[in-house]
Order: sequence, then structure tokens, then C-alpha cells
Amino acid sequence: MMKIYEAKDYKEMSRKAANIISAQVIMKPDCVLGLATGSTPIGTYDQLIEWYKKGDLDFSDVVTVNLDEYKGLDRTNDQSYYYFMHEHLFNHVNIKEENTNIPNGMEPDSDKECARYEEKIRALGGVDLQLLGLGHNGHIGFNEPCEEFEKETHCVELTESTIEANKRFFASADEVPRQAYTMGIKTIMQAKKILIVVSGEDKADIVRDAFFGPVTPSVPASILQMHKDVILVADAAALSKISR
Ligand code: GLP
Repeated sequence: MMKIYEAKDYKEMSRKAANIISAQVIMKPDCVLGLATGSTPIGTYDQLIEWYKKGDLDFSDVVTVNLDEYKGLDRTNDQSYYYFMHEHLFNHVNIKEENTNIPNGMEPDSDKECARYEEKIRALGGVDLQLLGLGHNGHIGFNEPCEEFEKETHCVELTESTIEANKRFFASADEVPRQAYTMGIKTIMQAKKILIVVSGEDKADIVRDAFFGPVTPSVPASILQMHKDVILVADAAALSKISR
């Protein structure tokens, strides 16, 4: 069942999403949070940091698992998701470094790294709340449109559209990594609760296709319609093409 919260703008969307994450952390202080990168969750992380600084949130027992990481970028590269997470959240709250998990982009053996990550999530007892952003082509994590849903953590070849969308962060499109490690669709679907944040008019078409269209691997996020506990928090612009 999908619940939809409409926020008036990005700020309100971020606050609402942070509210839901806070509720999870307060109810289960040692919860496993699945985290995401991309521009959309930045405001959510900012809000969590603000509440942490006010003394309203405690991350000391929280464990995190990130969705994905570029293959071939090391931790000090400012485009790695390791760097992103530290910059936008981990360095500003009292989370323990050893409780944070991100696929290791520098492990060249894909099979080994994917198996390690999948086992890590299993050993943690699964994800309590998974935060997701939505790619313009409907990707979640780095699960790109394809013929069949990829189930577990795997190594993907990024699509041209994703490379194109992400090249603004690199000196040129040539420097964008071609591969990434990502949780699979089954890994994501096993999360007990899913929170997806979407903002902006440029996402309005994909919000309609993913959540009100047919469930198909050509729109990976459409599978979320089958999850029993999903919350979509989106601003009015992102919801402008759905009729309710
Ligand atoms: C990236 C990430 C995704 C993210 C998506 C959308 O490629 N791997 O996890 O959700 O693209 O990004 P944005 O929020 O910047 O639109």
C-alpha cells in the first residue's frame, strides 16, 4: 500500500521525510536505516542534522546501509557516495563510523563485493526503513531500466542518461564512472518500510509512470507498488501529472 504525502515545496518535502526518519529512530534507536544519495535527500539530511543539534535525535546506536556506490572511485573522491554521506550526514551527527555501510567501490571483484554486501545486510537483520530517490528514467539506487528486475546487490553498467545526468558533478562526461555497485530490487523490496522522496516538475512524468502505471522492469521504481509499506513524499510539482 502506498501512502502519498504532498508537500508544497522542496523544504516541506524534506521536513516531512526527516519526520518519518526521526520517528523510526525514536521508536527503534538501534534501527537499520537504508540511505540514498542524489540531490533530493540533501534537504532531508540537513533537517535531521538540525534536529540532532537541538538534542532531539540520537544516532549512537543507528546502523546505516547505503544503496549504491560508483565502482572505481575511492573514498577521498568527492563524487564517491562514501564522501557524499560523510559530507551531508555522517560527519554532523553522532553516528559511529563502524555502524555505517556503503558498498566498497574500490573492490575490483564484483562478485565478491556484492556477496559481501548482501550478507552484511542479512546479518544486520534487514533494513527497517529504506530511503530512496527516483531517477528520471525510474531508476532506484542504480537499478536501471532493463528486461528483468535484478534481485540482489550487483554491479551495473550505467545508462547513458544516468551518465549524462551525473556528469555535471565531474570535470567531463568521460570522468563519470561507467559502473556501480547497487542493492538489487529484491534487496530494496525486503526493507520493512520504504520512504521515497521526489521533488520538481522534471520528475512529474516519471512519478506518474512509476506509481500509477504498469509494474515493469523498464521502470524499476514501479515495483514499489507491490510493497506493503511505502510512503511517497513529494512536492506539488512532482505530483502535478497525477490525477487524484
Ligand atoms: C542517482 C542515484 C540515485 C538517485 C538518483 C536521482 O544516480 N544513484 O540513488 O536517487 O540518481 O538523483 P537526484 O535526486 O539528484 O535526482
